[in-house]
Amino acid sequence: MTGRLLSALVLGLGVTGAAAAPNAKRTTSHSPQLKIISYKETPNGFRSSARGWNSFGIQANPLTLPSFKFDQEHVIEQCDHLVGLPGYDTCSLDSGWSVGDHGDEYGRILYDNTTFNIPALADHLHSKGLKLGVYVVPGAFLEDVNKTIIHTNTKIGDVCHGNEGLIRCIFDFTRPEAQLWHNSCADQFAKWKVDFVKLDFVTPGSPDNGQMLPPDGSGTVIAWHKAIKQTGRKMRLDISWKLDRTQKYFNIWNSNADSMRTDQDLNNSGQPSFVAWATVQRAFDNYRQWIVAGLQFFDHLNIYPDMDNLLVGNNATTSGITDAQRQTVMTHYIGAGANLILGSDLTHLDKFGLNLLTNKAAHDVADFTAQYPMQPRNPGTGGQDAKQLQAWIAGPAPNGKAVVVLANYGPDLGQGGFNGTSTDDEWVSASWADLGIKGTYSVHDVWNNKSLGKQKSGVKAKLGPGESVLLTLTRA
Ligand SMILES: *[C@@H]1O[C@H](CO)[C@@H](O)[C@H](O)[C@H]1NC(C)=O
Ligand SMILES: *[C@@H]1O[C@H](CO)[C@@H](O)[C@H](O)[C@H]1NC(C)=O
Ligand SMILES: *[C@@H]1O[C@H](CO)[C@@H](O)[C@H](O)[C@H]1NC(C)=O
Ligand SMILES: *[C@@H]1O[C@H](CO)[C@@H](O)[C@H](O)[C@H]1NC(C)=O
Ligand SMILES: *[C@@H]1O[C@H](CO)[C@@H](O)[C@H](O)[C@H]1NC(C)=O
Ligand SMILES: *[C@@H]1O[C@H](CO)[C@@H](O)[C@H](O)[C@H]1NC(C)=O
Repeated sequence: MTGRLLSALVLGLGVTGAAAAPNAKRTTSHSPQLKIISYKETPNGFRSSARGWNSFGIQANPLTLPSFKFDQEHVIEQCDHLVGLPGYDTCSLDSGWSVGDHGDEYGRILYDNTTFNIPALADHLHSKGLKLGVYVVPGAFLEDVNKTIIHTNTKIGDVCHGNEGLIRCIFDFTRPEAQLWHNSCADQFAKWKVDFVKLDFVTPGSPDNGQMLPPDGSGTVIAWHKAIKQTGRKMRLDISWKLDRTQKYFNIWNSNADSMRTDQDLNNSGQPSFVAWATVQRAFDNYRQWIVAGLQFFDHLNIYPDMDNLLVGNNATTSGITDAQRQTVMTHYIGAGANLILGSDLTHLDKFGLNLLTNKAAHDVADFTAQYPMQPRNPGTGGQDAKQLQAWIAGPAPNGKAVVVLANYGPDLGQGGFNGTSTDDEWVSASWADLGIKGTYSVHDVWNNKSLGKQKSGVKAKLGPGESVLLTLTRA
């Protein structure tokens, strides 16, 4: 733990006056009214985002753990560590666990039995109180078009045509048998005791990567949701990636999936580390865009954001970002109420990472933001645009509780969407008017476990590039 983190100066706006914090001097009388947005139950009945681990981080950056192989033994070695991380229960397999070019005799998705035994993996995880996640992409295999959909006389090729580039065909959702194929796969997953399904390459969104994805693959999301429902087993549906956020599609995602990716993949292009700060800046800004769209279309959301794997568990060298930045990442994922699906190497968590992941006070904040996501309210304006120095508020809930995040993202490294250039420590000041609230609040600095006392007008923090503070507010 660096001294830097512990010494971050956080004050109420009233304490030393506006002179020390130039931002606070700006008029805030024109700040827009705060629209409080909440999360309600998701389509498959969840009241908080998923927490656990996913294999993509190590798969995409194999140099972070060269001994890792994507198989049953190595996944178990990682996921058994979830037992020591209270609240994190889902062990999620990314691409590569299933047979890549054909299904079983009914064209249902098969696990690759040279590397995995999915029912045995599920049993192992469940015996430890954990859950299992699998990964799928839209369509049935081209190789399977002459196979009959189970309990029907219909061949897959009668209701699934063309080639979407991933050696699969595209279902015609006007045909009821298309739904029956999805049901047959979901039934199989339920029988194996799967708890979480990640559906990748959903369009509109999912840049095609040279594939031939259909312009509108939203029917697949609806079909997987119905298929999961009819199994009677509680499974989460997580959809990916870079999904269209216009009202029409946001509505479809919101009504059918439990979480949706807000951005591209987070990886470090094969480096011996998991992520770079520029990528994280982009992820924060994509969450900002997502929640701003959500505020525009909804009074409450039924879907949680998936900012992709949370890559903060390993030391700064392996994570690829500094300890202060790791804390800032954790703060933003918590603030967003986002999935907390770790991509780190769980066999080498460091002490700082362990605290980030298991800190009780931070978990309490996550329970709050599972109901009230943070939204941007910028210093000096209350605006929602991208800035180097940003403020966010979640809530307030009717009981007067709120969460505030103040951040200095540092200079924009090219993908962040803001125009920051300052490499200095900066005061980030948010008045109550900026945040859209009134009254007196008791303020607590969560990571530093430090009370800031009762504040009547706002809060400010002196933050270096990449630093942030996570504050809870309780109406006094
Ligand atoms: C990693 O990210 C880069 C840039 O976003 C992307 O081009 C590359 O395909 C990704 N690698 C993997 C394995 O996903
Ligand atoms: C593995 O799967 C193949 C089909 O992909 C099957 O022919 C074989 O019998 C299976 N082996 C075991 C041990 O289940
Ligand atoms: C499906 O059957 C048709 C007609 O018999 C045949 O031409 C085609 O090659 C078959 N496709 C596959 C993938 O087996
Ligand atoms: C950081 O963690 C990696 C394992 O992820 C370890 O090999 C390395 O020695 C650690 N480095 C430092 C500086 O502690
Ligand atoms: C960011 O900088 C560019 C180029 O200097 C400028 O055109 C643009 O208006 C700036 N945007 C904001 C939000 O300040
Ligand atoms: C926070 O500090 C208080 C005393 O101010 C202490 O009672 C409490 O245990 C601390 N919490 C944590 C999580 O360290």
